Amino acid sequence: MKTRLPFVLHALQILLFVCLSREYTSISDDALKLIPRPREDFDIKNGKLLSPILRPRVPGSEGSTAVLNHFVDFFHNDLPQWKVSFQNSTSKTPVTGNKEIPFVNLIATRDPPWANPGEVGYLTLVAHYDSKMTPEGFIGATDSAAPCAMLMHTARALDGALTKKWAAMDQAGIKQEDYDLGLEEHKGIQILLLDGEEAFDQWTKKDSIYGSKSLAADMEATFHPALSTYYNAISSIHLFVLLDLLGEGTPTPKMPSYFKTTHWAYQNMATLEDRLRAQSLFSSSPNHPSKRSASSGGPTGTNEQQAKSTEPKWFFDIDKSNDRWLGGLIEDDHLPFMARGVDILHLIPNPFPTVWHKETDDGEHLDMDTLGDWTVLVTAFAAEWMDLEGYMDKKATNKRAMNDKQKAKIISKTEL
Ligand SMILES: *[C@@H]1O[C@H](CO)[C@@H](O)[C@H](O)[C@H]1NC(C)=O
Ligand SMILES: [Zn+2]
Repeated sequence: MKTRLPFVLHALQILLFVCLSREYTSISDDALKLIPRPREDFDIKNGKLLSPILRPRVPGSEGSTAVLNHFVDFFHNDLPQWKVSFQNSTSKTPVTGNKEIPFVNLIATRDPPWANPGEVGYLTLVAHYDSKMTPEGFIGATDSAAPCAMLMHTARALDGALTKKWAAMDQAGIKQEDYDLGLEEHKGIQILLLDGEEAFDQWTKKDSIYGSKSLAADMEATFHPALSTYYNAISSIHLFVLLDLLGEGTPTPKMPSYFKTTHWAYQNMATLEDRLRAQSLFSSSPNHPSKRSASSGGPTGTNEQQAKSTEPKWFFDIDKSNDRWLGGLIEDDHLPFMARGVDILHLIPNPFPTVWHKETDDGEHLDMDTLGDWTVLVTAFAAEWMDLEGYMDKKATNKRAMNDKQKAKIISKTEL
């Protein structure tokens, strides 16, 4: 019987760890205000992040290589602390004969500086960067050039705060031992920019999501060192957030909750949307100050109150009452990951944008307010996930100590 005790303790420890890893604390209104919006970087003509992606980028083409290089240069120059790698494959397609078409997925990660491989659980943010072969010259601005640019912005918006947070933890002496005891967890961010999502001909299981099928199989077969927290690369993914078809403003996007298993994460997004709207941080809102003053005339400006429009709600499904979940019915890059047990949050509007798979899905048809709002929302979600409260201030110094709330949180864990 004696030998059972360590086992029980170990089991308790694992249980504790599992409970803690579900922990998600919301950030304050002040921190929400500090989340930077993409501005001139999203200009469709010469914006640094978005404009280089707004070109045809069919797998294996020159445009595809140029866009991939754009991502690589961005991480290399602007975010040198991110680790960038590729996962490559080739496949024949129904319209390219015997030729093997190359598919290149880009994986960018940022881990706590002291973390060992196999110990980091990821918030994985995903979009595809390839564009559809037809119609000729198709740009795919919402599909998914804009989501790729959003993720670049998110990575850059959080980078400084991650550095500060990890430095503060390091100074407070909270790192390896706490993790070894299972009292804290290593949380990292992973960004997947995937190739070959689009069908070359008609969408079938075979002719679609070439990049994600290859990557999911590869991650499943990539083992971490023995006794790691996560035994292979795919099990390191805590939540796979897939962005697709975002950036159209009218009609107002409607975002269903697709998966019962991740409805909790959907609810966190929905709550953030509400809070951002309440603070006038959603520029696409008809009640945003920029929209309201535009329609109120009068050279001296009257104090006349305009009637408030009904505030739109993208995440309308927060109190989902029925038990019908559409997850998996919309085929997209998440399928090979879902089939391997990964939790999915699918951010794809239903109905799809009106420009979907049409020539008009180009830069000119993006709504910059909507796109900026999506970017702020996803960045806020990631900031909450990574517990960046107190670190978002650009002016904060690296020496900033952990605040009392953060200390108390860690201490209470240690005492458990
Ligand atoms: C994958 O493809 C990219 C782009 O062509 C190349 O730079 C990289 O070296 C390749 N990686 C591997 C592991 O083959
Ligand atoms: Zn598409």
